[in-house]
Amino acid sequence: MTLIRSVEPFDAPYRPAGLSADPVDHDALHQRHPAYGRFARQLGDTPLIPVPGPDGGATILAKSEAGNPEGSVKDRVAYALLGSALHQHGDRPLEELRVLEYSGGNLARALSRLCAELGITARFVLSSASPRSLLDTLAERGALVDLVDKELGFLEVVRTALRTAEEEPDWTLLYQHRNTANLLFHQHSTGAEIVAQLDGRTPDAWVASIGTGGTLIGVLRALRERHPGVRAIGVTPAELPYGSPLPPNGLPKYAGSGGMGDGLKQPFVTLHDSEVEHHTVSYPRCLEVMAEFHELTGTRIGSSAAANWLTAKEIAASLPSSATVVTVFPDAGTPEEWERIGR
Ligand SMILES: Cc1ncc(COP(=O)(O)O)c(C=O)c1O
Repeated sequence: MTLIRSVEPFDAPYRPAGLSADPVDHDALHQRHPAYGRFARQLGDTPLIPVPGPDGGATILAKSEAGNPEGSVKDRVAYALLGSALHQHGDRPLEELRVLEYSGGNLARALSRLCAELGITARFVLSSASPRSLLDTLAERGALVDLVDKELGFLEVVRTALRTAEEEPDWTLLYQHRNTANLLFHQHSTGAEIVAQLDGRTPDAWVASIGTGGTLIGVLRALRERHPGVRAIGVTPAELPYGSPLPPNGLPKYAGSGGMGDGLKQPFVTLHDSEVEHHTVSYPRCLEVMAEFHELTGTRIGSSAAANWLTAKEIAASLPSSATVVTVFPDAGTPEEWERIGR
């Protein structure tokens, strides 16, 4: 697993992750923790579906992640991050493992299930803007929650988790923005699945919203192994674009994604900084596009999926009809968002 070393060092805005970069033997973990293995059997192998595109433009294919056990692409990351923590924890009793992570929502949902099923104490730092449906699920699963004032932006959510990990070292911070298990699992699961599903067809562009950048960069690395010419397009909220020098803000943004503010860049994306083109989409536009996609297809997609679809259509419109644009639909949206849209 020299790959793990090849993604170090990061041009990191945060202090380094404390987790080991040892290769993780997932089969051994499945044997030792059957609930972890059961989750793995329901994970991934999601469809790559053709979705509406511009007349005369490229075909758009979307990796639709809502079919994962907890309904989002972050189920993969929860599995990978917890795997790295379980590996590091070794033979000690699981009651001694106390997992801490910050989340925009989907990762906490997935981790809370995995931790509840394994008997691991979980604690999440979230924005006070988190939807009630998420907070109720976390409470039902016995997870602890620390809320950070939404006006301070997501960067303060991350910093609060880092401070907690420093002040209370009995908590193991999973650290999705720096933990290489995130990026590598996307490379070897999401990305490898897409390469196989393309079945030899050459992708011209890969479009993905950036939260940690694990999806964008992990899949990019898998695609580039087979198709070195593929373009990479990262999508971030217009309210706080990638690398923005503006301070963090409390404006509503599409799900799970965003620039950090203060000029900080997501470490995984900095690994390929000169190769990634950046687009932005506002949250109000995402809500309109969710409704539009639902009207066209009868299928619900989340707000980051809407941002990705809109951007993929823009790219597809500039390419010939023989070309292929690949994107990802990370989830199907929250009940609160669909209520807001009125459907
Ligand atoms: C709905 C949604 N879309 C997109 C993302 C971004 O994924 P990544 O962290 O791989 O960049 C997330 C991450 O939490 C998410 O929850």
